[in-house]
Amino acid sequence: MDASRINSCQALASWRQMPSPTGLATLTFTVRVASRWNWSRGCVRLQRRSFGVKAGTWRKTKVPPRYLGQPSPFTHPHLLKHGEVTPGLTQTEFELRRQRDPARELWDGPRSGKEGAAALTGIERVHNTEELGLVLKSLKGTTVWYDGSQPCHPQLHQTYIQPLLEGGLMGRPLRRLIHSLRVIKSPAELALMKEAGSITAQAFKKTMSMSQGDIDEALLYAKFDFECRAQGANFLAYPPVVAGGNRANTLHYINNNQIIKDGELVLLDGGCEYFGYVSDITRTWPVNGKFSPAQAELYEAVLEVQMYCISLCCPGTSLDYIYSTMLTLLGQKLKKLGIIGSTASEEDARKAARRYCPHHVGHYLGMDVHDTSELSRSLPLQPGMVITIEPGLYISENDKGCPERFRGLGIRIEDDVVIQKEGGPLILSADTPKTIPEIERVCAQKDA
Ligand code: GLY
Ligand code: MN
Ligand code: MN
Repeated sequence: MDASRINSCQALASWRQMPSPTGLATLTFTVRVASRWNWSRGCVRLQRRSFGVKAGTWRKTKVPPRYLGQPSPFTHPHLLKHGEVTPGLTQTEFELRRQRDPARELWDGPRSGKEGAAALTGIERVHNTEELGLVLKSLKGTTVWYDGSQPCHPQLHQTYIQPLLEGGLMGRPLRRLIHSLRVIKSPAELALMKEAGSITAQAFKKTMSMSQGDIDEALLYAKFDFECRAQGANFLAYPPVVAGGNRANTLHYINNNQIIKDGELVLLDGGCEYFGYVSDITRTWPVNGKFSPAQAELYEAVLEVQMYCISLCCPGTSLDYIYSTMLTLLGQKLKKLGIIGSTASEEDARKAARRYCPHHVGHYLGMDVHDTSELSRSLPLQPGMVITIEPGLYISENDKGCPERFRGLGIRIEDDVVIQKEGGPLILSADTPKTIPEIERVCAQKDA
């Protein structure tokens, strides 16, 4: 142990000279441990210990009665040789042979261990984390597919990988290649996404049919969560937005704890995860089950744009192309609704559309909600890709430039769409009520 190590452990240290039996001056080092010492795993909590050294070498003047809470080579030299953790077993042996961790399993449940991992994945060579350093050293001179700029396990990265990268080990990121593979879904992946979509659609129906005037956002949130899980989802894919009234204009509103008043709309953006694959659906509906004329007017405008954007989901177009079309169409709607002047140029109308819909038309969907984020949205769409189409119009209650009847309304309609070679796009969220008559019908069914 040296002074810098002690400093790094945030202990308080003081040095003093002590007379020794040999007459030589001995430095005694007293460590007072800071009261809230944050020990990393494997350290012991010590209250106060004394160590003495002759200049140049360390030697204990007072051997701790216990060390690491178990016999040690210092306290039980008759039992343990230097470097042994338990009699006959060295630290290295422990590192290399430890397959499981019964202590952790007691708290966290069973682990697969090396054999289990190999059996589950079919991967030929499986090592324990503790072997990582040795395995990497043996790979010197080969290319290691590893992204040092975004380590997924910072502690392992720092301990084992960073030093090797600094020593010349070649690491090449695999992320982009993996994303290129992930963006095209296999039939088996699509089957899981279909299930995620259909579970979510059922949850929307149940949530809509329990809506009523003056309802807590938290209740709709809980109902949606419950119905997703009850129908087989593993869990929600992300914290849903359940936003009543003007709160729908806060795009990332997830407090979900206000009362939605009779006559207000609720915007629910929610999705579930089903064995690794997710849905991401948004619907906006009146909690009392009946659209007001202004709500219906704005809703129909967004719906028309959304349906047109979905019709563009075919091989060869791109998310960026559909986005550009969405801006043009929303601009036209804004003019028609009287939200911007009827004489506005197309460019000004598109600018206004960007203001009233500040997000993109959609994103890739799959194992993540915003899936394969390494890939540009300008990529030509190909069969097997899954994207969302989610235009919206968000009109703040404080927007004095907008006709009063629209103020405080925020509407988004989001579907999950598979690009198909022929037969047009496949809509995974198709069972989620979307037209005004469908929504009003489901809201009227009080069977939840
Ligand atoms: N739910 C996140 C999104 O729609 O992008
Ligand atoms: Mn989305
Ligand atoms: Mn969404």
